Amino acid sequence: TDLNAFIDGLPKAELHLHIEGSLEPELMFALAERNKVAIPFDSVEAVRAAYDFSNLQDFLDIYYAGANVLLTRQDFEDLAFAYFQRAAADNVRHAEIFFDPQTHTDRGVPFGVVVEGLIAGMDRAKAELGVTSGLILSFLRHLSEDEAFATLEMARPYLHHFVGVGLDSSEVGHPPSKFQRVFAAAQAMGLKLCAHAGEEGPPEYVWEALDLLHIDRMDHGNRSMEDPALVRRIVAEGMTLTVCPLSNHKLCVVDDLKDHPVPEMLRQGIRVTLNSDDPAYFGGYVNENYRQLAAAVGLTREQLTLMARNSFAGSFLDDAAKAERI
Ligand code: ADE
Ligand code: ZN
Repeated sequence: TDLNAFIDGLPKAELHLHIEGSLEPELMFALAERNKVAIPFDSVEAVRAAYDFSNLQDFLDIYYAGANVLLTRQDFEDLAFAYFQRAAADNVRHAEIFFDPQTHTDRGVPFGVVVEGLIAGMDRAKAELGVTSGLILSFLRHLSEDEAFATLEMARPYLHHFVGVGLDSSEVGHPPSKFQRVFAAAQAMGLKLCAHAGEEGPPEYVWEALDLLHIDRMDHGNRSMEDPALVRRIVAEGMTLTVCPLSNHKLCVVDDLKDHPVPEMLRQGIRVTLNSDDPAYFGGYVNENYRQLAAAVGLTREQLTLMARNSFAGSFLDDAAKAERI
C-alpha cells in the first residue's frame, strides 16, 4: 500500500534491538554446524514452530538456548552484519544495539571475543551499508548486582566501544533498585543509561528506573500508562520510550495489537519510538513493526514521521550528528 511505501521510505534509527535476538534460525543452524554445537531442533521450521510464547520468561528460555551456537569472533561479526543488512533494507540509518555479555562469558566465551566480533560487524555496516551504530552493554537482571559489577570491570578495557549500559531479562522480582550502585558506576564512567521498565513489571519499577537509576532512555515503558502521575513525569522529562509492538504482542504484554498503547502514548505527548526488540523471534524487523502497528491502530503519516524523528532525537548521537539527520 501507499502507507507501507511511506514507512519504507522513512529514514529511521533503531534504539531497542538485542543483537542475540536477531539470530535467525537459518544462521543458528549454520553456526551450530560450523561450531559442532548440538541444538534441540531438527529443522529451521521446527525452530520457528517453537517460537510461541505466553510471557517474557518463555521467550527468554529459548533465546538464551539459541545463543549457545555463538562462540567465535567471526560468529558475532556474522550475527551483527546480518542484522545490519536487514536494518539497511528498512532504511535504518543508525542503530544502538544491546548485547548481553553475561550470556556468553558465563559459557566461557571471552568478553573480548564478543565485543571484537560485534565491533567488526558494526565497522563493516558503516563501510559497506553506510549505517552507523553504537553498542550498549546490557546487564542480566536475574543475576546479582555483584555479577553486573564484574561485567562492568571486564568492559573497562573496551570502554571506548560502548555508548551505554542497559538492563534486561526477567523483570518481575528484579526491580531497578537492585542495580542502583552499578548504574551509578557506569554513569561515572561516562556511559549513558537505559533500562527495560514496565514491560511486565509494575509502574513502581518505572519510577525506580527514573529516580534510582537516573536513566537517559526507557525501554518499553508500557505499564507507565497505568499511572497518570508517572506519565506526567515522563512527558515533563522528555524521556524517550523505545516501544516494541510485535514483541509486546508475541510476549502477551498486549493481547491484541489493536489495543496497543502507542496511540495513547502519543496523545499524552510521550516521545515514542518503534523498534523490533528481538526480530528473529517476534516476526519482523523495524518496518514490520511500523506496518503492523499502523494497520492495527490506524496511525497517520504525521504520527509515523514523528516517531521516526523521535528515533534520531532520542538516540545517543551528539547534537551536531542529530541535527544533520533529523
Ligand atoms: N532480552 C531480550 N529481549 C528482552 C525483552 N523484550 N525483555 C527483557 N529482556 C530481553
Ligand atoms: Zn528488549
